[in-house]
Amino acid sequence: MAFNSLVLVIIATIAFDSLLVNGKISSSMYVNWGSHHCKMIGDDLQLVLDKSAGKSSGAQSKRSFLFGSFEMLIKLVPNNSAGTVTTYYLSSIGTKHDEIDFEFLGNISGQPYIIHTNIYTQGVGNREQQFYPWFDPTADFHNYTVHWNPNVVVWYIDGIPIRVFRNYQYKGIPFPNQQGMRVYTSLWNADEWATRGGLVKIDWTNAPFIARYKNFRPRSCYYNGPLSIVQCAIPTKSNWWTSPLYNKLSAYKVGEMNSIRSKYMIYDYCKDVKRFKGVMPIECSLAQY
Ligand SMILES: *[C@@H]1O[C@H](CO)[C@@H](O)[C@H](O)[C@H]1NC(C)=O
Ligand SMILES: *[C@@H]1O[C@H](CO)[C@@H](O)[C@H](O)[C@H]1NC(C)=O
Ligand SMILES: *[C@@H]1O[C@H](CO)[C@@H](O)[C@H](O)[C@H]1NC(C)=O
Repeated sequence: MAFNSLVLVIIATIAFDSLLVNGKISSSMYVNWGSHHCKMIGDDLQLVLDKSAGKSSGAQSKRSFLFGSFEMLIKLVPNNSAGTVTTYYLSSIGTKHDEIDFEFLGNISGQPYIIHTNIYTQGVGNREQQFYPWFDPTADFHNYTVHWNPNVVVWYIDGIPIRVFRNYQYKGIPFPNQQGMRVYTSLWNADEWATRGGLVKIDWTNAPFIARYKNFRPRSCYYNGPLSIVQCAIPTKSNWWTSPLYNKLSAYKVGEMNSIRSKYMIYDYCKDVKRFKGVMPIECSLAQY
């Protein structure tokens, strides 16, 4: 090992800065949209959408992170939620931004939400996968977790992996490992596209629409500028999410995931030959798990 990189590793190990914020939304997030409507009560964040709130309300994390496990319990807008979109996502800023998404497209009472996932790397997305929930996401809180390390991004719902995006940088596919991301939540009026492609509009007689969040638990490495790119990628005991243990899902977890994907996945960009005119994104032919 060259002297320079040895020094860097030592500095990185000493300066290593990971954290465990224990489930307090109020201490780790702030409302960035529609503050007169949103409520943050202890650990409970309520995003509210009504006609006077305009287009949206939302909150974001105070800190920026690079890798970790990002857990949030969410209870979606009940009853007639058609035209609304509730989100929970990580994003950096700028034209070459990275982003990891959970979005929930509302529906009329009794009809299923759509759980929409996507990932942007270096400004490029177009990697949508969508699912119907196998539970009623409005009846109770459910655990939506993004596990992100230098090798892989995994989307979990209630501990079941539903999607994996593996690091294939050596094949020329950018991976989110060069910039920090903040965590965002929002509730939108998206009735020009969200429900059945915009066919079903928001019914304001059902307002206010309320989405509930709690137990935000970002167990992750703080992003404090370029030095963090090296620091946060080092597998140490305190940044356990980078451990080789998390580079691959167990056979059991893969089984759980395949079962959910075969029954509940309703859109996969990798199968959309028409959209990509037959030239499929490279990762579509590479094993993800
Ligand atoms: C929403 O639906 C539940 C049962 O499905 C019902 O008890 C409740 O009154 C409804 N709320 C509104 C605001 O319509
Ligand atoms: C939420 O799911 C993640 C990923 O499976 C898991 O690590 C975490 O313990 C779960 N949290 C709760 C409160 O169940
Ligand atoms: C809403 O319900 C309709 C009818 O069941 C379904 O086709 C659609 O996928 C559902 N979800 C959304 C967000 O449109």
